[in-house]
Amino acid sequence: MAIFFEITFFGSIQGIWVMKCCVVGLQWGDEGKGKVVDILAQDCDIVVRYGGGANAGHTVVIGDAKFALHLLPSGAVREGVACVIANAVVVDPEVLIKEIDGLAARGIDLAGRLLVSENAHVVLDYHKKEDQLREASLGDNKIGTTARGIGPCYADKAGRSLAVRMGDLRDLSRLQSKLDMIVEYKNKVFSALYHAEPMSSAALLEKCRVYATRLLPFVVDTTEYLHRAIAADQSILFEGAQGSLLDIDHGTFPYVTSSNSSLLGMPSGCGVSSKLLDRTVGVCKAYTTRVGAGPFPTELHDEIGHTIREKGHEYGTTTGRPRRCGWFDAVVASYSVTINAIDEVAMMHLDTLTGLKELKICKAYRLGDKVTTFFPANLDRLAQAVPIYESLPGWDRDFTDATRFEQLPGPAQTYVRRIEEIVGRPIQVIGVGPGRTQTIIR
Ligand code: GDP
Ligand code: IMO
Ligand code: MG
Repeated sequence: MAIFFEITFFGSIQGIWVMKCCVVGLQWGDEGKGKVVDILAQDCDIVVRYGGGANAGHTVVIGDAKFALHLLPSGAVREGVACVIANAVVVDPEVLIKEIDGLAARGIDLAGRLLVSENAHVVLDYHKKEDQLREASLGDNKIGTTARGIGPCYADKAGRSLAVRMGDLRDLSRLQSKLDMIVEYKNKVFSALYHAEPMSSAALLEKCRVYATRLLPFVVDTTEYLHRAIAADQSILFEGAQGSLLDIDHGTFPYVTSSNSSLLGMPSGCGVSSKLLDRTVGVCKAYTTRVGAGPFPTELHDEIGHTIREKGHEYGTTTGRPRRCGWFDAVVASYSVTINAIDEVAMMHLDTLTGLKELKICKAYRLGDKVTTFFPANLDRLAQAVPIYESLPGWDRDFTDATRFEQLPGPAQTYVRRIEEIVGRPIQVIGVGPGRTQTIIR
C-alpha cells in the first residue's frame, strides 16, 4: 500500500502507526524533494533538515503561491508542523533570518515551532568570500559551487579550531575573541592567496549580535528534542538536501557538495539512527539534471536537452543557473536506491516529457570491454562510461490534471513501469506538474 495512505490512515486517524520517514534525492539534486516533503508533511508532527545549507533550494507550490526554501525544512509552510534544523546543517544566519521574515510577511509564523541545533555550524561572511575567491581562482577546474560558503564552513568544522557553532552566539564576548583570531587568520590567507582586502572582525561581531538577537530564541539541543519526540511516538519526516550523487563520500567526487547528502548522512546529521526509520522515499525526476561541473553520462547537448530545460523550467532555485539536462539514468537511480536502502520512489516531472517522440532510459554503462549496471562513483572509471540505452515511445497528450495512474497515456504508464522494473522499487508517487495537487499517488 502506498506510503501516503498508510500515514493518513494509521498516522493521523487511528494514531497507532507512527511514521519515521526519510526523503532523499536519488540524482544530483533538485529532484522535487520540496514538493514531496510538503505533501508528506501534512501528516507529520516534525520535519527535520539534517544536512547541507543554503546551497539547497526546495520549492513548494500551493495554488498560485510559490515558496523557495533554502534552510528551513519544507514543512515550514504547514502551520503546526515543527521544523528542526539539525546539527550537520551549516546555517547562514542571514539567509535563515530572511527566510523566517519572508514567511512571516506571507502570514506563516515560525514562533514556537522552529528549533535550530546549538551544535549546527555557522556560515559567516568569510566562508562565502573564500568559496567565491577559490572558485574564481580555479578557472576550468572549478567545482561550480553555489558560492554559499558551504565547503569552507564544513572545512572549518572538520578543522575544529576555527569553527563557530550556533550555541557560540550565546556568549558574544567569548565569540569576539574567537572572531578576532579567526578573521586575523583568514585575512592573512586571503591576502596571500587572492590579494583580497582585509575583513573587519568588529563588523562581523556586530552582525553576530543581530544573529544572536534574532535566532537564539530558536536555538536548542535538537538531539534531545528529537529523542523526546520519538519517545512520545511523534511522526517525523527527515528531509534530505542535495542528492545522493552529490554526497561527499558516495557521489561523483570532487564534483559534489561537502556533506553526506545521501540518506547515509541522516543519522550522523541529526543524531537519530536510521534503524528507527519506517520508510525511505527516494525522489527522482523522470529524466536527469545537474547544476555545476562534473560527469553526467546521459547529458543531452542537443535540442531535446534544450526542450526539457525550457519545458521543465530547469533553472536553479538557489543560483538561477541553467540546469544541465539528460535522459533518465537508471544506473544512477539504482545506485542511490541501493546505498540509501530506498523502499519507494517518487518520480517528479513526468509531465515535462510530454511531446517527445522517443524516450531513452540508460540501463547500463559500457566500461571498456565490460558492461556494468553498478554505478562507478570513481571519476576515472566514470569518465569511460558509455551509456547503453533502451528506447521507448513518447506521448503527446497533456495529463497535468491527472489524479490516477490509469489516466496517464499508455506510453507514459509503460515508461514508469519500465523504470520500476529496472530500478527494482515501486514508483508510488508521480509528479504531473509543480503544484501540490498535481501528484498521483498509487
Ligand atoms: P528540490 O531541490 O529537490 O526540492 O527541487 P527544486 O525545488 O530545486 O526543483 C524542482 C522544480 O521542479 C521546482 O521548480 C518544482 O516546483 C518543480 N516540480 C516539482 N515537481 C514537479 C512536477 O511533477 N512537474 C513539474 N512540471 N514541475 C515540478
Ligand atoms: P537541492 O537541495 C542541485 C551542487 C552545486 C555544485 C556542487 C557543490 O536544492 O537539491 P556547494 O555549493 O554545495 O559547494 O556546490 O553541488 N549543489 C546542488 N545542486 N541542488 C542542490 O540542492 C545543490 N546543492 C549543491 O551546484 O555543483
Ligand atoms: Mg533544489
